[in-house]
Amino acid sequence: MKNFIEHGTSYEYLEPFCLSLEKLQEVSARLKRDFSRGLGKHSHHKAPVKMLPTFVRATPDGTEKGDFLALDLGGTNFRVLHVRVVEEQQKVLKMDSQICAIPQDMMLGTGEQLFDHIAACLSDFLVSQDLKGQTLPLGFTFSFPCEQKEIDKSILIRWTKGFNCSGVEGKDVVKLLKEAIHRRGDYDIGSVAMVNDTVGTMMSCGYRDQSCEIGMIIGTGTNACYMEEMKNVKRVEGEDGRMCINTEWGGFGDDGSLKDIQTEFDRVVDKMSINTGVHTFEKMISGMYLGEIVRLVLVKLTEDKLLFKGQSSEALKTPGRFETKFISEIEEQDNGLENAQNILTKLGLKWELVDSRVVRLVCDTISSRSARLCAAALATIANRIRVNRGLDHLKTTVGVDGTVYRKHPNFSDELKATVRLLAPECDITFLVSEDGSGKGAAMVTAVAQRLALQSRLLEDSDGESDEEEEEDK
Ligand code: BGC
Repeated sequence: MKNFIEHGTSYEYLEPFCLSLEKLQEVSARLKRDFSRGLGKHSHHKAPVKMLPTFVRATPDGTEKGDFLALDLGGTNFRVLHVRVVEEQQKVLKMDSQICAIPQDMMLGTGEQLFDHIAACLSDFLVSQDLKGQTLPLGFTFSFPCEQKEIDKSILIRWTKGFNCSGVEGKDVVKLLKEAIHRRGDYDIGSVAMVNDTVGTMMSCGYRDQSCEIGMIIGTGTNACYMEEMKNVKRVEGEDGRMCINTEWGGFGDDGSLKDIQTEFDRVVDKMSINTGVHTFEKMISGMYLGEIVRLVLVKLTEDKLLFKGQSSEALKTPGRFETKFISEIEEQDNGLENAQNILTKLGLKWELVDSRVVRLVCDTISSRSARLCAAALATIANRIRVNRGLDHLKTTVGVDGTVYRKHPNFSDELKATVRLLAPECDITFLVSEDGSGKGAAMVTAVAQRLALQSRLLEDSDGESDEEEEEDK
């Protein structure tokens, strides 16, 4: 607030981004209601927060083992990994990995091109690792909202984060991958487990800390998953045990429920995006959009002659030119102002000291709103788990990943401090995931294998006792 008084003129522009604790509590209450709608059998189809069953029924118990392939698609790069899970050492080892860039035109091309590219990268990797003759089980981290029918059947609901390949929405992604591999015909893969990156993140931390039951991503996009009681997952049969739910909280607000906190700048970001009207919450929070929100505020302040003496630049007027990573650089404690000045110069702006201070204040306000909104959403999950289990006090761990969380100088501190206020009965430990999308995907596959094996053993032993009973008669 002190800063606002110092730069009184920018106050009215930034004030709509400042959310009070009461407002955040309200937001959390709305999300709580949307969680129930998403889980409900009859309310689900209209629910903006999808609460998708993942068919992940357990976190690691430390007995998992074996060699796996992992694919990771969700950002601008695509990765292939060979991962070994070692039981004795309770370790997940990355044996090797390869990155393939996904060119911008491919992100907006046909699904067939995209999956052919993925299958080709996997083929190159298998050759380089001398693994082509083997059919290893594969964990596929596909970080988009999918309606999972089984662990290996996953229908893409919609693209997010700048992807928009034709012919994939409404289709089973595992089938598209397998078809692309068959089109090549030079290798095969074993059983497939589909994994959202939040789930991989939770599972990769779950190996280190078995009380890790929440996974959260704040990167290019944002989302979280958590272990829900089966009896509340109305769309999947069965009452016992738990299942991991991919909340897809990025869609919060798509029914207009966040209108009161959306600013004019959020509305522009949404309108200019390739998926207008969807993933409202994500667009207020995640790395794909934060830089653009800052840019729009700076443009407005300049137009109103509150910055740079009213002199803009071509770069400042160009969408996307103010990168989200600039926000982290400008908010750095020691060199922030100097970084701001260098960035403004590179953007072709003529600045004075006060301009760089205002720019820093804008960045701080917008990243702060993002951290506080994430905190409200995370508090909703923690409170839900606590109430689900009838506990007065919950101790739990959240596995976290994403560039915004990792790279921003004070995002994680602000997030944690706000969650403490919004979920005072929950004691949450934050664990930064080590490669959730790679190692975590392998872990999901390993846990699925363990459960399948256990249930086969159980069936066999049931069979035996049936026979015994028969013989007894
Ligand atoms: C996707 C989620 C994903 C998140 C983080 C969102 O855009 O819808 O599935 O978990 O980004 O990568």
